Amino acid sequence: MIKGIGIDLTEIDRVQAMVSEHPQFVQRLLTPAELKQYRQFSGQRAAEYVAGRWSLKESFSKAWGTGIGAQVGFQDIEIVDNQLGAPTVTKSPFNGIVHASVSHTATLVMTEIILESVDKDD
Ligand SMILES: CC(C)(COP(=O)(O)OP(=O)(O)OC[C@H]1O[C@@H](n2cnc3c(N)ncnc32)[C@H](O)[C@@H]1OP(=O)(O)O)[C@@H](O)C(=O)NCCC(=O)NCCS
Repeated sequence: MIKGIGIDLTEIDRVQAMVSEHPQFVQRLLTPAELKQYRQFSGQRAAEYVAGRWSLKESFSKAWGTGIGAQVGFQDIEIVDNQLGAPTVTKSPFNGIVHASVSHTATLVMTEIILESVDKDD
């Protein structure tokens, strides 16, 4: 059963500005596993990756119904790319299955999160 859906559109430059202007921003946004993946990239690919994680976490927070804040923070949600490059949610407060999808152009990243319950208690 579908329990929630969230979408987000983020400007890559806006996130890149936060990366450049605030040295702690990347550590605040990304979990250690995401940081490890991020550090393998450079240039536009690195900018897409970090903007994608920002957007995915915003999408999750909408699907969850709270926004990012006291109830769910950036470190509570982890999305890493699997060996085929697909974004895979490896940590979140939701007990069921979390489906994630990302798309970008040169300037924008769009993401979608769907929360699916696997039993009636989720
Ligand atoms: C809820 C949140 C994710 C919305 O994202 P946004 O980038 O401000 O705005 P978007 O255009 O992507 O989305 C706006 C829509 O989110 C939806 N929305 C707002 N609160 C929501 C909630 N609790 N649950 C689900 N959807 C929500 C609304 O439909 C809203 O559209 P509306 O204004 O026409 O009603 C956002 O407020 C938030 O939590 N941001 C965290 C930002 C942050 O932590 N910044 C720290 C800076 S380092």
